[in-house]
Amino acid sequence: MNYTIDKEIPLAPYRQIANQMIDDIKDGNYGYGQKLMSVRTLAKAMNISHVTADKVFKYLESEKLVERIQGRGAFVIYKSPFNSETLLDKEVIKQRYASLRDSENYRSLMVNLFQNTSHVCTYNFSYALLNPEFLNDLLPSVSDLSRDPNLFKATRVYGEIKGYLPLREIMISELQVDYSLDEIIITNGNQHGINLAVAALINKGDTVLIETPTFTGAVDILHNAQARLIPMKIFQEGFCIETIEELCIKYRPKLMYLTPNFSNPTGYCLDCEKRRALLAVAERYDFYILEDDHWSDFAFEEKLIPLALMPGGSKRVIYLKGFSKIIGADNRIGALLAPKHVVQRVERELTLQSLGVAILPQEYLYALIKKGYYKRALEKITSDLKRRVRQVDKYLKVLKVYGLDYEVPRGGLNYWIKLPDNMNSEDVLFNVMYENDITFLPGRLLDVNIESNSSHYLRLNYSFLSYNQLTLGLERLVNLLKAHF
Ligand SMILES: Cc1ncc(COP(=O)(O)O)c(C=O)c1O
Repeated sequence: MNYTIDKEIPLAPYRQIANQMIDDIKDGNYGYGQKLMSVRTLAKAMNISHVTADKVFKYLESEKLVERIQGRGAFVIYKSPFNSETLLDKEVIKQRYASLRDSENYRSLMVNLFQNTSHVCTYNFSYALLNPEFLNDLLPSVSDLSRDPNLFKATRVYGEIKGYLPLREIMISELQVDYSLDEIIITNGNQHGINLAVAALINKGDTVLIETPTFTGAVDILHNAQARLIPMKIFQEGFCIETIEELCIKYRPKLMYLTPNFSNPTGYCLDCEKRRALLAVAERYDFYILEDDHWSDFAFEEKLIPLALMPGGSKRVIYLKGFSKIIGADNRIGALLAPKHVVQRVERELTLQSLGVAILPQEYLYALIKKGYYKRALEKITSDLKRRVRQVDKYLKVLKVYGLDYEVPRGGLNYWIKLPDNMNSEDVLFNVMYENDITFLPGRLLDVNIESNSSHYLRLNYSFLSYNQLTLGLERLVNLLKAHF
């Protein structure tokens, strides 16, 4: 018990203790039904009278967080969504959603909640991941490969901060990029890559142009760094380059954050011309483009060329290549490629943070690439995704007459769906889908300014469920929407 009483604070001691206990209960440090310490124990620990200690419990009771039972003690009657036991309770999660809707930190709190609770719904259309069983069938596990001493060395010492050399070498040759070995650094995935790039380049108040809607993690990292965010609206056909040029003249950005290869969440792609134009704008106004690429490998038709790989790209682009979708999100690995002086700063940050990334997952990814598993898996994954996309379209297109709108994805893992204008995707999620065991990501969560206009949109992932569950889930989703229109 680490409660304190501060004599300088003009609040009665019993209320000071009660407030700290309330925080503990709401944070889930005391679970639902847990018995709290007795009046006597509290009085002794805090060096207060029994009367004051009793007032603490009376106050908690009046706040409906605790029930006192004569002769037995005080029991917590609040179900905290942050307590791992109650996270499985749908009613608690729903209440928590409702309480977060208008909070200041709406986006990051909601993302945290989605991350921790989406698995509670059978039809989880929220996670942008591949189906784990499917991946298990495609790829050997670490233990399958770890007996080969040429692949897994178990050196028992720290590795090079920039990352495992054979992995960096094979990445440079496989990606066929115009970056040298000094210009690549291994990360714990792209979220880590964004963090490192931002820590290395962005100071408080620096301006960053950022696509909207976009990957929520990037927005939160940039907010955390106290950057000034200027949203760039992304359209089906990409960005309006003239508008971006005007923003550059007005705000003089230091960085631009983009997911141009099957953007998360929209699935939109920049065409070659827009890519060239953006690189030219970055050159003219002297800023870096942080290109976050998880998805270019999941292209169903033509192969996409990341900005980093286009002529001149390696001078202007900090390229984040994510691998956690393919090798599994339990094995987070990514690569950051950038001009040498940027990599040097990133390396300094990585040294401070963790002395580099653990070697074992790096060896695993290296083994998968070296032995050809990675490439073979990718082919099977894309053909499976194509089949899934057709299946989703088959179910959703019957709803077009009601005003539902979407583009059939040409790659990536998500459908970006617009509901009719009078429908809000959060309301549909909380009031209809959740109790029917379905979850997806509401569009508002993915906007840079959460008050702007993605509230009619939702992101529907089609890759995480097994194929059978996907079909059953779609059937249920479509019937529920039909009844709701
Ligand atoms: C655009 C984007 N960036 C970063 C991430 C985080 O990925 P990682 O697991 O590589 O950190 C995701 C995850 O979905 C993503 O979509």
